[in-house]
Amino acid sequence: MLLVQISDTHIDEPGNQVYGRFDTSDALRRAVAAINALDPAPDLVLHTGDIASHGSVPRYEAFRDIVAELTAPYGLIPGNHDDRAALRAVFGDLLPTTGEFLHHVIDDHALRIVCCDSVIVGEAPGEMCAERCAWLDARLGEAPNRPTIVALHHPPFYSGMTGSSAKGLKRGGEDLAAVIRRHPQVLRILAGHVHRPITASFGGTIAFAGPTTCYPFGLDMGPERILSVVSEPPAFAVHAWLQDATPDAPGLVTHVQPVGDWDPPITLLREGRFVLGR
Ligand SMILES: [Fe+2]
Ligand SMILES: [Fe+2]
Repeated sequence: MLLVQISDTHIDEPGNQVYGRFDTSDALRRAVAAINALDPAPDLVLHTGDIASHGSVPRYEAFRDIVAELTAPYGLIPGNHDDRAALRAVFGDLLPTTGEFLHHVIDDHALRIVCCDSVIVGEAPGEMCAERCAWLDARLGEAPNRPTIVALHHPPFYSGMTGSSAKGLKRGGEDLAAVIRRHPQVLRILAGHVHRPITASFGGTIAFAGPTTCYPFGLDMGPERILSVVSEPPAFAVHAWLQDATPDAPGLVTHVQPVGDWDPPITLLREGRFVLGR
């Protein structure tokens, strides 16, 4: 199974250049084209939140029109810039229509994906309160033998990036870690929010914050606590569950694929043979 992770698409008003430089809708179109060009094709595309820069029905409809071009099915979770009611209005087929949170489980693939809603309305950081941790604990308890991914928008770890919030989760990180430790079938925690790929150990497993399709945040761990947007390439992640084809393969392998136009590739090997002299 191949799972593509996109994140932090921050769809804005049509044609708007965010920070005077970034057309986030065009950036998503380029990412969709690159995902559709993957061979083999992904089984699922998961968005880990901040779908729009300010959640609204028109912006979610614009997002939906762009991702309608994906050849793979997609799922999504909310980020701090999103609006639950507007998300429900547009994505009622993908999200629960009742209850406060947008928790749900995607259970149609080799990897079971438990999607959490870590949003605190009106705040940038997130939380996993007792109610949300209990929901997650119960869902993980339902299928202890299924290889599982837990997705939430806010990374539960401290990245060392001093300019943004010290860690994505304001509250509940230790409780979340305790839940994860109880369920060793969790192979990865997938998050977004930090607009660049970051990996950390968490709760006895691996946590990964995926890259953004629009404007990355610059790597800054200095004392001046600078947060900046940079023109590094946007990217998406490809999580490859290799045991479908090779049972003794390592469990889940994560790649980061930048999106952009570069010189064409120079093929070195084909079917194990050098095709280019050095
Ligand atoms: Fe974001
Ligand atoms: Fe965010």
